[in-house]
Amino acid sequence: MCGIVGYVGGQSALDVVIAGLKRLEYRGYDSAGVAVLADGQVASAKKAGKLVNLEKALVERPLPSGTTGIGHTRWATHGGPTDINAHPHIDNAGRVAVVHNGIIENFAALRTELTDRGHDMSSETDTEVVAHLLAEAFSSRGDLAESMRQVCGRLEGAFTLVAVHADEPDVVVGARRNSPLVVGVGDGEFFLASDVAAFIAHTRSAIELGQDQVVELRRDGVRVTDFDGADADVREYHIDWDASAAEKGGYDYFMLKEIAEQPKAVADTLLGRINAEGSLTLDEVRIPPRVLRAADKVVIVACGTAFHAGLIAKYAIEHWTRIPCEVELASEFRYRDPILNTRTLVIAISQSGETMDTLMALRHARDQGATVLAICNTNGSTIPRESDAVLYTHAGPEVAVASTKAFLTQLVACYLVALYLGQLRGTKYGDEIRAVIRELSRISHEVERVLETMEPVRELARSLADKRTVLFLGRHVGHPVALEGALKLKELAYMHAEGFAAGELKHGPIALIEEDLPVVVVVPSPRGRSVLHDKIVSNIQEIRARGARTIVIAEEGDDAVVPYADHLIRIPVTPTLLQPLVSTVPLQVFACELATARGNEVDQPRNLAKSVTVE
Ligand code: G6P
Repeated sequence: MCGIVGYVGGQSALDVVIAGLKRLEYRGYDSAGVAVLADGQVASAKKAGKLVNLEKALVERPLPSGTTGIGHTRWATHGGPTDINAHPHIDNAGRVAVVHNGIIENFAALRTELTDRGHDMSSETDTEVVAHLLAEAFSSRGDLAESMRQVCGRLEGAFTLVAVHADEPDVVVGARRNSPLVVGVGDGEFFLASDVAAFIAHTRSAIELGQDQVVELRRDGVRVTDFDGADADVREYHIDWDASAAEKGGYDYFMLKEIAEQPKAVADTLLGRINAEGSLTLDEVRIPPRVLRAADKVVIVACGTAFHAGLIAKYAIEHWTRIPCEVELASEFRYRDPILNTRTLVIAISQSGETMDTLMALRHARDQGATVLAICNTNGSTIPRESDAVLYTHAGPEVAVASTKAFLTQLVACYLVALYLGQLRGTKYGDEIRAVIRELSRISHEVERVLETMEPVRELARSLADKRTVLFLGRHVGHPVALEGALKLKELAYMHAEGFAAGELKHGPIALIEEDLPVVVVVPSPRGRSVLHDKIVSNIQEIRARGARTIVIAEEGDDAVVPYADHLIRIPVTPTLLQPLVSTVPLQVFACELATARGNEVDQPRNLAKSVTVE
């Protein structure tokens, strides 16, 4: 949430920073701003709204050119999305510029203190105090990195900061607490950004910054210290995807590209995790087998779409391992004083690895002695760093705010963990595990087949563009799929959409059914627990009898649903527990097309951000 960029080197800082911000716009798009150091001055521009507004402003009033600069794309927290509240924030003398991601919790006290000392504040943001504090510290110390360390000691909350000072024209300083910050290592040039995507076009070498570290970038090198000034270990790593992975590649939206990439993402997530005998080898899960064997409870914590992956995982974990599994919204978890101990295995699922609610939940779990396994898509991000072990999903960069390919790979990773636990604990026989793995291995092909048959779904979505409400029903693993279908529609189409367990219908939601109300029903396989299938067929009849327009997602060959389906969406035959890997896909396509038909911004839905680094 909020994207920040810094650059020092030989290129035009403005060009590098703007290009970087374009790649980070998924983190927030309420306003954007830049500052460059030129002729011993700080020159800056900032504009409310998307980056394109700033770009227009820069064409009308160009900034002088310089080779050191910073930039920001904002998701507003303190203060509305106005020009004045946009970052960078600058001190009264105009010498320091700073951008920030996070929330400074003690900003009100600092602001009062600063105004008492004669500082004028112009914005409503928490960030502005940092510019003033840095200016004060610099006036007595004359060293931006040292000033940053001193100021960080005074701040509470989450703050990743990047700053420049006019008196140090070839220096950019960053500080990291909680929100992400990565250094890009070039040849005679260095980058700082919330995400490697911002500089991947320039370098694939990066350095992760740890919690509570300050970094000083100069053209000839970087120095990383803790907040007390002690040198920290620096670990450079290679980014294993290239710039094209973070581009639209001919698609109108990132979301469309990411939906299309799902077969590959699913296959990549299985890669290297199955040995020649067809058993699982999760070598990267460095939790001692005795700890996993002794676990008497699994708790999954996650937010948004990742939470829905967790809800589905519960069915597989309990069925395959017989360990009780709870799934909890990360934002609620620690506040209800959950019962955790050394025999609890907590699984934290997060695409970004930076979601603050999930991070706080896992910290709480570890404090209570639980073992934490992260399922994450972003290498080196905070959640895996702070977990006992990580299983990376290999979806590649996901840019569209609404998660698609990351979700399918989270499901694959959850199935792998569940099978692995079953393998270790002996609750599944080897041949049973191999049979599921064989099914998982062919799912990528089945997802591909679903994608090839989506035109009628798109057509249907367009025909529903003027509807106000769509309901989603499911049973068993189809219930979380229904929740995910509804979430996608809310996020993208801004429509009233709700997902229900089909069995709950008669306990309330059926009152919502009225003539021509579209209701999507995710039908479980008739070959699984037939009673489930039969019950949902009755549910479809019940809503149809009350006027609903039924949109039925059912597997090939399931003819029992045909008489009651106003629209029938076929999905390939898959084992019951794995069905969400194929049944979710039409719902993603449906939401994306409906949003487009309503003229909405698919990749950047209003009010949302992809990486939510505030609680
Ligand atoms: C935000 C995004 C969702 C995402 C959720 C969790 O709300 O808009 O698409 O599912 O965060 O994100 P994470 O990175 O932890 O998976």
